[in-house]
Amino acid sequence: MTKLLVVETSTRGDGSISRNMTRHFLKAWRAAHPDGEVISRDLVKTNLEFVTASWLQAYFTPPDHHTPEMKASLRLSDQLVQEILDADHVVIATPVYNYNVPSSLKAWVDHIVRKGLTLGNDGSGLVTNTKATVLFASGGVYTEGSPIRDRDIATQYLRLILNVIGISDVTVIAGGGAKAVDLGETTMDAFIEKLAPQLERAAAE
Ligand SMILES: Cc1cc2nc3c(=O)[nH]c(=O)nc-3n(C[C@H](O)[C@H](O)[C@H](O)COP(=O)(O)O)c2cc1C
Repeated sequence: MTKLLVVETSTRGDGSISRNMTRHFLKAWRAAHPDGEVISRDLVKTNLEFVTASWLQAYFTPPDHHTPEMKASLRLSDQLVQEILDADHVVIATPVYNYNVPSSLKAWVDHIVRKGLTLGNDGSGLVTNTKATVLFASGGVYTEGSPIRDRDIATQYLRLILNVIGISDVTVIAGGGAKAVDLGETTMDAFIEKLAPQLERAAAE
């Protein structure tokens, strides 16, 4: 059975453009994969810590020497790692904040890049046979031809980190110019409709 992991980060609920992109993607994905399973990882509802000294100590202690406290420190990270290892397809839906991903998503990255689990000791990625689709919502437009193309750090960053853990098949769908929805210059439906062909293509693959 095909497994889809959906990682979402926006705090804006129904008003979130990235979450509306996810909804459209999911509708098409479910139609294309009627027997598929969707695992939702909503980072707004996940109590993710930033990296702490005790977490690092647990990370760098061989598992057979883990104390109960170390096991507890790594429990959520272990679960997040398992989710990505189990997935055939990972969707990450996120706003752009200050030219990069929100801190909640960066924290998720810090929890899923784990030596020996997602990253080999030789530096090779261990998440193989998995593809990713990244859904970005951003106030500005950063795609080819944009005068602020060089500020597209978020896309470069997520592509890089997914490649590092072994996911080389990465599709990015850029919901640029999303501020038009917030300013009432266009509707959410019209905005999503423009992205629909890309979303449906990525979901059908
Ligand atoms: C704190 C904050 C920082 C932002 N920084 C950027 C930015 O650097 N570049 C940009 O294009 N849009 C920026 N935006 C606009 C958001 O990317 C845009 O509102 C997007 O639709 C948010 O995603 P969501 O609708 O899924 O919550 C920022 C918004 C907020 C709230």
